[in-house]
Amino acid sequence: MSITVVILAGGKGTRMYSNKPKVLHPIGGKPMLSHVVERARAVADGKLVVVVGHAADHVRTAMGDLPVSWVEQVPQLGTGHAMQCAAPELPSTGHSLVLYGDVPLLSEATVRAMLALVNADELVLLTQHLADPTGYGRIRRNSAGDVEAIVEQKDATVAELAIAEINTGILLLPNQHLHRWLSELRNDNAQGEYYLTDLIGFAVRDGVAVRTLQPGTDWETLGVNNQLQRAALERHYQQQQATQLMTQGVTLLDPARIDVRGELQCGKDVQIDVNCVFIGKVVLGDNVSIGAHCVLQDCEIAAGTQVAPFSHLDGAKVGEGARIGPYARLRPGAVLAAQVHVGNFVEIKKSDVGVGSKVNHLTYIGDSSIGSGVNIGAGTVTCNYDGVNKFRTVIGDGAFIGSGSMLIAPVTIGAGATIGAGSTLSKDAPADQLTVARAKAVTVPGWSRPQKKQD
Ligand code: UD1
Ligand code: CA
Repeated sequence: MSITVVILAGGKGTRMYSNKPKVLHPIGGKPMLSHVVERARAVADGKLVVVVGHAADHVRTAMGDLPVSWVEQVPQLGTGHAMQCAAPELPSTGHSLVLYGDVPLLSEATVRAMLALVNADELVLLTQHLADPTGYGRIRRNSAGDVEAIVEQKDATVAELAIAEINTGILLLPNQHLHRWLSELRNDNAQGEYYLTDLIGFAVRDGVAVRTLQPGTDWETLGVNNQLQRAALERHYQQQQATQLMTQGVTLLDPARIDVRGELQCGKDVQIDVNCVFIGKVVLGDNVSIGAHCVLQDCEIAAGTQVAPFSHLDGAKVGEGARIGPYARLRPGAVLAAQVHVGNFVEIKKSDVGVGSKVNHLTYIGDSSIGSGVNIGAGTVTCNYDGVNKFRTVIGDGAFIGSGSMLIAPVTIGAGATIGAGSTLSKDAPADQLTVARAKAVTVPGWSRPQKKQD
């Protein structure tokens, strides 16, 4: 069956009180519209039409070069008008699936169930029974239980307002009738809008079967109109991520306290403590453990590595059996080999650190190549920047850098070299020797402390 997807994303989102168009507000770190586009791509390989109206250019630019047909709806005269604007993009056969850009969590399973239900020339409506149906269009059925029409809240009689079955807005329309029906729409209703929902009445009139179906969960058809609803859907989304991770065997010490804003891949026996945030693509190998309050973005952590609490890793690659943190900061281009130890208040960027090397306290390593078995003492700084250009520091295998050393790049320290604590090193240090670059200690004989002056 050929399916064209139309995503209605024209709304202004007044109640978000934001300069950003509503459909660009994120769920799981990704614009709501991206979720809907992904879902559409997963279920249908036909054309994808997105109707934008308010801040159309902003939406298009933010979404990048998506392979979709953008349709602009200006002014916005209702959901029926939005479909009228999309109509030139829709074929005359097959079905059109209508999704909303501000209903981001509709499941693939529900959409597939809708597709499975429809026959040629039929219409499928996704409806739901709500304890409080206020605000939604109501599904009016005849005495035989067949759908007769959708009545919008503002046009409903008192009896109709009591109907608990509502229109989620998601529907599947037969294209062979759609074009004709759209041309018949009138706006003589309470809101002066062109209602897409009027098509249901037309279908009934024309003897086209209207089938209904309920979503798999009662929250997946929820829309976002304000920040409270966005936050509520964010929790549903995160709960789904957590459930998926635990189903795959990941230990989450509290599944209510994890945020995955991207893709998190975990090996076996991974443990994640509370309040961790995963952004972009993060891969954790077998037996990795992540302490509380860590933020990991676009990282790869190999098997057996432990990341202690309050660490921030961004664009880093860490080998097997390493120990990172607490309070470590790994920045883009930090590549650590197996068994490396990085301790508290250590920042590493654009640097390779070899097997088993230790950088345990209060240190900055930037633009460096550090060999294996190196020990870097507390308070060491690779002075990589002269205010204009960046330079590299190279440290050979087995070197020992004394605490408080300033390594002024470009500088090379040979394998097995020892740098005396407190050195300010501005020239290369040879392998296997002690290099000290600090003022000698001097004791001044006969010196005495100054005395407080008397008036
Ligand atoms: C619509 C349905 C209602 C249903 C409800 C579910 C109609 C007439 N009513 O009502 O039966 O219960 O959704 O949430 O369809 N949009 C445009 N252009 C427009 C108007 C809307 O693109 O001119 C888009 C919006 O951005 C949104 C979607 O269509 O994504 C729904 O619009 P909204 O104004 O929220 O519809 P409701 O009046 O709530
Ligand atoms: Ca709405």
